[in-house]
Amino acid sequence: MKNISVIGLGKLGTPFAITLASRGFSVIGIDIDSKSVLSLKTGKFGIYEPLINNLWSKNKSLIKATIDYKEAIQDSEITFIIVPTPSQKNGSFSNFYVKKALEKIGKILKDKDKFHLISLVSTVVPTSSELEFIPLLEKQSGKKVGRDFGFCYNPAFIALGSVVKNLLEPDFVLIGESDKKSGDVLEKFYQRFCINNPPIMRMNLVNAEIAKLSLNTFITTKISYANMIGHLCEVIPDADANIVLKAIGQDRRVGSLYLKAASCYGGPCFPRDNKALISVGKKFGISLPIAKATDKINDRHSQNIFKRIKKLVTKKDKITILGMSYKPDTDVIEKSQGTILVDLLINEGYQVTVYDPKALRNVKKLFGKKIRYSQNLENSLKSSTIMVIATNWKEFEKINNKQIKLMKKNPIIFDCWGLLEGKDLGRARYLRNGKYEKI
Ligand SMILES: NC(=O)c1ccc[n+]([C@@H]2O[C@H](COP(=O)([O-])OP(=O)(O)OC[C@H]3O[C@@H](n4cnc5c(N)ncnc54)[C@H](O)[C@@H]3O)[C@@H](O)[C@H]2O)c1
Repeated sequence: MKNISVIGLGKLGTPFAITLASRGFSVIGIDIDSKSVLSLKTGKFGIYEPLINNLWSKNKSLIKATIDYKEAIQDSEITFIIVPTPSQKNGSFSNFYVKKALEKIGKILKDKDKFHLISLVSTVVPTSSELEFIPLLEKQSGKKVGRDFGFCYNPAFIALGSVVKNLLEPDFVLIGESDKKSGDVLEKFYQRFCINNPPIMRMNLVNAEIAKLSLNTFITTKISYANMIGHLCEVIPDADANIVLKAIGQDRRVGSLYLKAASCYGGPCFPRDNKALISVGKKFGISLPIAKATDKINDRHSQNIFKRIKKLVTKKDKITILGMSYKPDTDVIEKSQGTILVDLLINEGYQVTVYDPKALRNVKKLFGKKIRYSQNLENSLKSSTIMVIATNWKEFEKINNKQIKLMKKNPIIFDCWGLLEGKDLGRARYLRNGKYEKI
């Protein structure tokens, strides 16, 4: 197995294709959007993702890109599908793009003699593979799953900003398989692809579909739990959630990762996966109250931060928000703490200036002339009354007293992530999430 095709060259598909090439596979990337195809051909990417430029340059001889499904399917042994599954009004995901891709693949499989494995990476609602995808492929190809072609559900547990590392060194690989042969082919592929020999969890398709949503919603539950304890500590004199959470995180049953009173969760996956789980419960006639509460706490958390900030400033003050991406090392701003905060502040007439190391281009598209933008940290702080650190970018950990002196006299620092805790901040008043402070 040497030749791999990747359908969907977006935020995940492009880094995935490049990482495959870095491990010696010949890759053909396919997208319906000719711009994405051109990006992979030329190495000029519209997304920011660490490592991909360098890996592309080193391995470009192994990477092809096309809009032609036929060439890609005929010339590869495994096809990974990473197309969008947009959220619908009821929280569920749309299978529209996945089915469009499968229809085309099915028609090509009709004329392919060799066994071909289709591995679906996109996040889908449980039961989609058995009830919709395999029947569609069998209908279009006139062939039988498990005999003529294989189907796996194989979601990737990656975070934007560390996609290459997460793909090469996953905690585990999840394989939902239509049949043993398909699972064997995919397991063999991952044994060669990953560099850390991860545990490979194999199961039927529906269990893998449920596992994907369950994992993400467990993490969001942990984040909301930490923010809930943070909220409690903000109102009890002398309480500090990060001291509490650091202690309980030592217990192995709890674990310390994602256990911090900080920003709300955002991005293209966490918020929608949680809503999707709620909708799955509904579809099967049950309520999933933890998923609902997690979602509610996350929404309330952004409001809490907004309310605390409002108490500290007037409409004449310049408010600087540092960090607009939903996490560090990405330019994706979807449902980020920074964008939610800006929206709430400008709707009430506050003056906002923002700075982000990578995401400003996307922020400008969202807010246009409604706010000010700074190309560097220093400019963003000049004459500012309050600095709000909304994303835990490494650059913000290094903020020093000299930079703080650029702000107005007796400035305020509202540090959602506790990055500046314990530092010499001159005359600044320091507040952070999860800690009691009389405002
Ligand atoms: N981005 C993440 O962090 C992440 C993490 C885990 C899982 N996922 C899942 O992966 C899937 C893709 O996410 P993304 O963020 O990469 O999306 P994206 O929107 O960034 O990219 C999707 C790409 O697929 C292309 N496309 C759409 N229909 C196509 C078709 N029929 N044939 C070929 N190309 C087609 C689009 O043109 C686009 O370039 C989603 O289901 C998402 O939930 C994403």
